[in-house]
Amino acid sequence: MDKKSTWDRFYTENSSRTPTFKNFEWFFGFDAVRHIILTLLLQHKPDPDHVFQILDIGCGTSALGPCIYKHSTTPVQITCADISPIAVKLMQENIRSKPIQANNVSSLLRFVEMDCTQVLSHYSPNSIDLIVDKGTTDALLRSKEGKGKARLMLNQCMKVLRNSGTLLQFSDEDPDARLLWLETEMQKHKREGVIRNVVIQEVGELRGVVYFCYQVSPTLHS
Ligand SMILES: C[S@@+](CC[C@H](N)C(=O)[O-])C[C@H]1O[C@@H](n2cnc3c(N)ncnc32)[C@H](O)[C@@H]1O
Repeated sequence: MDKKSTWDRFYTENSSRTPTFKNFEWFFGFDAVRHIILTLLLQHKPDPDHVFQILDIGCGTSALGPCIYKHSTTPVQITCADISPIAVKLMQENIRSKPIQANNVSSLLRFVEMDCTQVLSHYSPNSIDLIVDKGTTDALLRSKEGKGKARLMLNQCMKVLRNSGTLLQFSDEDPDARLLWLETEMQKHKREGVIRNVVIQEVGELRGVVYFCYQVSPTLHS
């Protein structure tokens, strides 16, 4: 599940099953986590004119990014990024044929093809306010060669996140494994004056599976 070709095939086959476009949601849709995301956007306001920079890593054909754009009262610039050009094209075509009205006139939404293990070649360090990851790290961690990619993606995400920024990982992985992994990785990413800690929230149980939100945020020290 760390191979671009696997995902290209997945989205090609998935889209051929239905005559009209339908978002495919890994784990769950926006409604399951809207309170977490929208509350976070309302809480963090670096300054009133600031447009919140959001990156959805491995967006696939999920409606998560479009729903944040639609519902956020805070101005947001959302980049939905995926390694699969098939998924990105499907999302671009869908938004062109069915435009969405943003809740804030200053908000922006775009879909880009990007290898998220290389986010540092697309963004400046310390430039993103929120990174969301629904199932992408999980997909990478599930294959042997993907483990290094997951670590690289996390490492690069930490560098492009602003000091005040947050990473949200939505996952079905048990805290015993994910919390340990994230906390160990965070030890390596300590920045001067910024130590990131991990908080877990249960998203809920769906079809017998318990889902978690791992929130990586800074602990600011004087
Ligand atoms: C499990 S799916 C999750 C898709 C979407 N986030 C959702 O919730 O439905 C994992 C996604 O990560 C993408 N992906 C895998 N490796 C990637 C990488 N290195 N950079 C960007 N996207 C990647 C895949 O193409 C796929 O769309």
